[in-house]
Amino acid sequence: MSIVTEPAARVGKGQAHGKAILIGEHAVVYGHPAIVLPLEPIRVLVEVGLASGGDRIDCTYFQGKLEEAPERLSGLAAVVEEARRELESSLSGFSLTIRSEIPPGYGLGSSAAVAVALVRALYDVHRHPLTQEQLLHLVHIAETHAHGTPSGVDAWAASTDYPLWFVRGRRPESLPLMRPLFLVVANSRVPGNTREAVQHVRESLERLQGGESPVDRLAALASRARTALSRGDYAELGRLMTGAHEQLAELGIATDHLNALVGAALEQGALGAKLTGSGEGGSMIALAPDKNRQNQVAATLAQAGALQVWTPVLGENSIG
Ligand code: MEV
Repeated sequence: MSIVTEPAARVGKGQAHGKAILIGEHAVVYGHPAIVLPLEPIRVLVEVGLASGGDRIDCTYFQGKLEEAPERLSGLAAVVEEARRELESSLSGFSLTIRSEIPPGYGLGSSAAVAVALVRALYDVHRHPLTQEQLLHLVHIAETHAHGTPSGVDAWAASTDYPLWFVRGRRPESLPLMRPLFLVVANSRVPGNTREAVQHVRESLERLQGGESPVDRLAALASRARTALSRGDYAELGRLMTGAHEQLAELGIATDHLNALVGAALEQGALGAKLTGSGEGGSMIALAPDKNRQNQVAATLAQAGALQVWTPVLGENSIG
């Protein structure tokens, strides 16, 4: 007896993960480089099944018809529409189920990761191969709805599993690690808004006109960080991260709580610490010298009022 799968039972699945910018956020919007890291422990899973009577969505914010979903989900609706067109799909109704561990609005790449997982699931339900170019094109639609003019760094980071050297408009380079990176990522109690933070940085830069700007200094710090990373010189990398935080603070996007979390991590022996992502709330990242210190820094940040704390280790099988 052969078993035939009913079309209604067909399910497509897609996954993606969060990201943390090690150095270069905001400067990346102006064409400068950034180093971005995958945060594989925090993940998004999207399932796409077939539905009768139009598209439906089930996520934290809304359960119901996609066309009646709140404005914040409009980017996902646009992605579904464009994917349907690109796939020349004959499937009339999808049921989208989104389960995400990435807190939205905390600079950890939530919106891009959801979009990446959604596109993967939509192509999977059609049993259609998906190129990185097609993926990025569709994710860009969602990111434009979410952030205005994204640099594209979040979409790349959510869809690749290794550290990247990212320059807007270019194919990113993967960065090998000589030694494991013991990181602590923590979110402050206040979410940020990327679109607004990017606008505030623009206004700060207009005010600071003349001479070398914080964005130029961030670019120089990112280049030195790449060298430090390639040498496995994490003491230097940490100093550069802290230096980047000072530049981001000069741009006006470090809140008191982010400054307090950065200070607490440094006092506890972190090699460096900075805000990560768009700032004005959101998250920070610290680099620890070893596993022990990583756990101590994490505990300190929880005591200092961080909402959530993660302790990812990157490159455990590194080449060094
Ligand atoms: C957001 O994760 C990073 C920013 O540089 C904005 C962007 O690159 O699109 C603040």
